[in-house]
Amino acid sequence: MMRCKTMLLLTLTLSASARAWYNLNDCGGGPSQSSKFFDPMASITLERFYDPKCGCNVTFLGQFCRVGFPLKITIECNSHDSDFTAIPAFEKFSQASNFTLIALSMSHCKLPSTFASLLANFGHADAELLEIMLESMGGELQGTHVRGLRKVRKMVLYKAAKQNRIPRDLFDSLPDLEEFDVSFAQLRLEASGGDDSIDEPSYFALRSLRLTSCGINVVPPGAFARLGNITELYLGHNFIENITWDAFRGLKNLETLSLSNNPITSLPPRAFAFTPRLRRLYLDQTLLKTVPGDAFQGLQHLELITLKKGNATIKFGARALALSSLEELTIESALQTPLPKDLIEGSVALQTLIIRYAGLKIIPKGFFATQQRLQKLDLSGNELTTLDADVFQSLKALVALNMSGNRIKEFPNDIFFGLSKLETVSANNNSLQYIATDAFDATNSITHLALNDNLLTSEVLSSLRHFWVLPKLKELRLQGNRISYMIPNWKQIYSLEILDLSRNNIMALEQADFMFRNPKLEINLRENHITNIKFHSLPSTMLWFKTSVFLGENPFRCDCELYMFIKAFQYPPNTSFIPKITLDQAACASPPTLAGALIQDLPLTSFTCSLPPRDCPANCTCDVRPGVRTLELDCKVEPSVYPNPGNHAQKTILRLRKLQSKPLILPSHVVSLNLADLGLTKPPLLKTHNIQKLDLSRNQLTDAPLELLKENISLRLSGNEFICDCSHLDNVYALQSNGAWIDDAQSVTCKGGEYLMHIKVEKLCEIRKETVIGVTLAVLGGLVAVVAGFAYRCSHKIKLFLFSHGWCQSWVQEDDIDNAEYDAFVSFSQDDAQWVAEQLLPILEGEPNNYKLCVHYRDWVVGDMIPAQIATSVERSRRTIVVLTKNFLKSTWAPLEFRAANAHAQRERRAQVLIVVLGEIPDCEEMDAELRAYLSTNTYLKWGDPWFWEKLKYAMPHRRQNIG
Ligand SMILES: *[C@@H]1O[C@H](CO)[C@@H](O)[C@H](O)[C@H]1NC(C)=O
Ligand SMILES: *[C@@H]1O[C@H](CO)[C@@H](O)[C@H](O)[C@H]1NC(C)=O
Ligand SMILES: *[C@@H]1O[C@H](CO)[C@@H](O)[C@H](O)[C@H]1NC(C)=O
Ligand SMILES: *[C@@H]1O[C@H](CO)[C@@H](O)[C@H](O)[C@H]1NC(C)=O
Repeated sequence: MMRCKTMLLLTLTLSASARAWYNLNDCGGGPSQSSKFFDPMASITLERFYDPKCGCNVTFLGQFCRVGFPLKITIECNSHDSDFTAIPAFEKFSQASNFTLIALSMSHCKLPSTFASLLANFGHADAELLEIMLESMGGELQGTHVRGLRKVRKMVLYKAAKQNRIPRDLFDSLPDLEEFDVSFAQLRLEASGGDDSIDEPSYFALRSLRLTSCGINVVPPGAFARLGNITELYLGHNFIENITWDAFRGLKNLETLSLSNNPITSLPPRAFAFTPRLRRLYLDQTLLKTVPGDAFQGLQHLELITLKKGNATIKFGARALALSSLEELTIESALQTPLPKDLIEGSVALQTLIIRYAGLKIIPKGFFATQQRLQKLDLSGNELTTLDADVFQSLKALVALNMSGNRIKEFPNDIFFGLSKLETVSANNNSLQYIATDAFDATNSITHLALNDNLLTSEVLSSLRHFWVLPKLKELRLQGNRISYMIPNWKQIYSLEILDLSRNNIMALEQADFMFRNPKLEINLRENHITNIKFHSLPSTMLWFKTSVFLGENPFRCDCELYMFIKAFQYPPNTSFIPKITLDQAACASPPTLAGALIQDLPLTSFTCSLPPRDCPANCTCDVRPGVRTLELDCKVEPSVYPNPGNHAQKTILRLRKLQSKPLILPSHVVSLNLADLGLTKPPLLKTHNIQKLDLSRNQLTDAPLELLKENISLRLSGNEFICDCSHLDNVYALQSNGAWIDDAQSVTCKGGEYLMHIKVEKLCEIRKETVIGVTLAVLGGLVAVVAGFAYRCSHKIKLFLFSHGWCQSWVQEDDIDNAEYDAFVSFSQDDAQWVAEQLLPILEGEPNNYKLCVHYRDWVVGDMIPAQIATSVERSRRTIVVLTKNFLKSTWAPLEFRAANAHAQRERRAQVLIVVLGEIPDCEEMDAELRAYLSTNTYLKWGDPWFWEKLKYAMPHRRQNIG
């Protein structure tokens, strides 16, 4: 019965492919699988329950290869009192009672009386291959505990605090045990019997014995003599001080020995005489001081010795490491120097030699003379200052050479001479300031060269000869040197893939510095002092290939000199050849306005440069902004001479801080003028100019700048005090109808503060307009509408059919609705004044018509502003007669008069503008858009028309008979 089984029951529906993924044979247990233990990575929980009586969690784990068969049982107890014998016999998997249990793991339990009985409880008499992992067991493991488990191959006692000895009978009980690990115990090793045990036959299969952190301080003679078959012995992290010559007696098969992390101070002569098959010896983190010349004597198979992180200075006896079988030697401990010249003499098999952090100051002459097979030599972290030219000469097989972290000042000529296999050279963190020009001669095989953190300059590097044609160089690392400019020679190394120049002193780059022809290259220029990258033009595609350039963390000066580079970067010429310039966190250091801004976020228009003072007028600042090709002048007073915008710019933007009353004469390249905040009460007088934008905001203008509105200028007018009352109707109207030309139209305000664009013009003068009646207007308007329906384009003549027949005249009458002073204001060019004076006026003003006309030469007040006069005249007249000629179009004021009249007419919603064409109809192209639009939808009269006077009189205001 399964009480309290609260668990799981994972239903496994593993597909065939999942099974195939983990080969059934890999599960271990087969006779051919001698050392395959439970693989936690491939485990799945099959069943897990908590047994309250025992206070234990019991878990059955399977592996993907044996779905449905528990291969491991774990029992987690809560104390050493847990009575796991109370766990009932587990029947669920009993049909598989013959299966191979691989692992049993128990933690925090007391030791079972025998493991065999425990297993029987779970339906197993034995296991073919068993890994027993005992963590923090209560009690000391004895041979009796494992009696009957003949198949156990691995046993681990982890945190075996109670374990004081390795029970003599343990291995008798476990004849198949191959691995035995004990850690965190307090072991006392026992000497074996007499010397005769040397030849005691080995009855045990044990191959690996690991006694780490077991508090061992003495290895008595023959301590492992009974374990003659072990090949691996790990005694790390103990307190062994002394090794005696007979400590390892009997270990004739030992191949790997670790004595690391012990306070061993010395090795006795012939210390390993009893382990003649030793191949790997680990002596890391010891206190070794002396290694006599014959310490390793007799070790014909020794391949590897490591002496890392020693805590004392080691003194080697002569030829101590001269071992003909040695392939790898690692010393990372202080050495007593000078080294014996013959320390490794005769170690002809040496392939890897690492002598790091050993305090080496010099390498004895001929030290490497016999190392013809050496491939890797690491001398980093020593105190070498000079290298003899021939120091490495004999190392014909050398592939990798590391000299980093020394104090080497120079590479002499031919230092790498004849090293035809040399691929990697590292000399980071030295004091290299000089490399002989021939240093890299005859070293064609170098692929990686790292010279970071030295004192190399551009000058030294550019003097190298053979270097620049190294045919295989892929990585050149020169971080943290004193390189101040890019060396053209770099471009010759076609094989180069990484050029690391970060943390140098490069201040500026030019376009040529980017013209690498290496097919694939990554250049790191981070953390230099680059302020500027000068590009003269956008680069042509061929020169880019696939170069990546990293430019972060440089103090860029974000001015117009950087502009062309950024442009090239943002708009690369051809997408298939984009240089992958990585600005990453590259930020502007100056100018102050842009300090800290990330370059990649800056729009191209942000970059400016000041003109040199000699090119900039006094009292001005002159900034070129190439992104919009403009020169920005900011002047306290109007300059007498304007600088030429020059190569960077085409046009000038002018800001004046003070305005004199005389007219402004601006050169044609000034296209934008800023006169904001000058307290102007009147618009500026502009003489010949090319202004497209004019900022008059925040002045004290009260009237609309009619003159300016007449021209094609975008204005800014907010922050003025336009008067918006009835008497300034035209003011308001002119501004409203020109809203499209006022950039900040929505913010333009009247004196009272209301928004000018929101003012309803027709309501401004409501009192005066109470008599306005739409009847006559409707007639006239309707008439125009009918006629306009026929009309399109100004080249078409409009038929005044209705007029010419005099229809409807009797009821078409116009009231004197508006108190207007004049019947018509005549707008004409001065060149046409004669016609007006001799033809128009006599007829219309004479009997019987008696119209009252307004003509400027007669009726205007002398001295008033012309635009104001125009506005007044239009306002005070019932009609505006436009005498349209070519002269009219050329005249300065006449078109404005037409605009004012048209605006007035639209506001009053009646046809007040009468166009009289004198001579040929001018070309459409000569007219401004408004006039052209007007003509295309309205009638006009042509001088010479037989009905001219009738039609004109008809279009003039009609009055009741009694009104004279
Ligand atoms: C048993 O498992 C539960 C749930 O994982 C855990 O909270 C408890 O501490 C475990 N008990 C023991 C004795 O390991
Ligand atoms: C277990 O093994 C024995 C002996 O090899 C065999 O007779 C028996 O049938 C097996 N039982 C099962 C359930 O496979
Ligand atoms: C011990 O090793 C020897 C040689 O490798 C071998 O012949 C012998 O069978 C091994 N002894 C045991 C018990 O495995
Ligand atoms: C190791 O040897 C030294 C000198 O022979 C001795 O003083 C010391 O007590 C020995 N250490 C142990 C743990 O036996």
